[in-house]
Amino acid sequence: MSKIESKQVNQPYVIENKGKSLFQVNRRVFVDDQILERETRKIFDTCWIYLGHESEIPNPGDFLTRQVAGKELIFVRSREGDVHAFFNTCPHRGAMVCREKQGNDKLFVCMYHAWSFDLAGKLVNRPEAKRYHADNSDGVHNLVPVANLDNYRGLYFVNYDVNAIDLPTYLGGAREYIDLTIDQSEVGMEIVGGTQEYGFDANWKLLVENSIDGYHGMPTHTTYFDYILAAGGQLGDTGTKINKPRDLGNGHAAIEYGSPWGRPIAKPVAAWGEQGEKDCAEIRAKLTERFGKERADRIAYNNFNLLIFPNLVINNVMAITIRTFYPQAANKQHVKAWALAPMDESKVMRERRLYNYLEFLGPGGFATPDDCEALKMCQQGYMNLKNVEWNDISKGMGENKQGNTDEKQMRVFWREWDRRMQSAK
Ligand code: FES
Ligand SMILES: [Fe+2]
Repeated sequence: MSKIESKQVNQPYVIENKGKSLFQVNRRVFVDDQILERETRKIFDTCWIYLGHESEIPNPGDFLTRQVAGKELIFVRSREGDVHAFFNTCPHRGAMVCREKQGNDKLFVCMYHAWSFDLAGKLVNRPEAKRYHADNSDGVHNLVPVANLDNYRGLYFVNYDVNAIDLPTYLGGAREYIDLTIDQSEVGMEIVGGTQEYGFDANWKLLVENSIDGYHGMPTHTTYFDYILAAGGQLGDTGTKINKPRDLGNGHAAIEYGSPWGRPIAKPVAAWGEQGEKDCAEIRAKLTERFGKERADRIAYNNFNLLIFPNLVINNVMAITIRTFYPQAANKQHVKAWALAPMDESKVMRERRLYNYLEFLGPGGFATPDDCEALKMCQQGYMNLKNVEWNDISKGMGENKQGNTDEKQMRVFWREWDRRMQSAK
């Protein structure tokens, strides 16, 4: 880690100078352990944080375990079909009650002394129960649920703060983009094929910026675009000509744009042949019937990268990826990502989608390793913090019209991050 001098510690995190159209972020926010500790309290313990998708626990008795903002949780559908999120720690002496990644069961039995709990978290048995005189009528020996659990259109979120605002209010304008994603299917969306996990040496906020950064596409991902050209594809927006960064409130932001690539919903490319044209036309006709032409076209053609503050990204591009990432240290992060797809998609369309996923979005695709490398280079650059203190996020400031390759959407994140970090509470 870089050495932080005492005069640097007193610098603001973010400086916004509207008169000069200058927006700067102090580089110590990427390297300082005390700032990381403050982020845990001011951001991860108070914001709504993504837990998982309803399709991951479709049946009564289904459960999975997941670390969410530094806490071990059990995400479970009870026998009655209700969804719960419990802290994965035994009320007896603390062992993790559930050690499996996922499964289906009737009870959770703690491995240590075998206390057992039903799927609604209630203690149902403990060996030598007669030796306990305190009863459980106040539920003190049940699994402890998280303070808040709610879902918006099948996406489940938790909030550890008892005073949290409700989820729909928190999501604000981001709901418009979640709707555009979920409306792709009349019968519902599903996570395909488990969780992808990877980690790399860069502060988590660098991936926030990168996930909504339209400026880096061409220079960072040259290999991918060369490959598209070599495969007979075209570059540039071949659909919509839209170019719109959005401030969605509460620190959420999106960029929306057309693209050269095919979208299984429902923009064909030459490589998919005549059949691809036909398949996409069929999907578009159905969408038009449900939503009218304007919205159907937006769903079919428009790509977007959506950031839900602080660390949920939904990229609706040549496939849909849901991605979260957490700091493991100031200079290290762990990423979890899932592929989301319409449940009623045809076999061939699903293949095209997954191929797109592998090709660009997955950990071994054309994009992700390039991005990880760029962010590692930034992190390494911050070792010079003593001499070079500020990042510049000013692109497009002072312009009447902002485009996706400007940095407005990143300023939206940083303003909210700074507001929360400065709050007294
Ligand atoms: S710690 Fe779970 S039964 Fe003792
Ligand atoms: Fe990228």
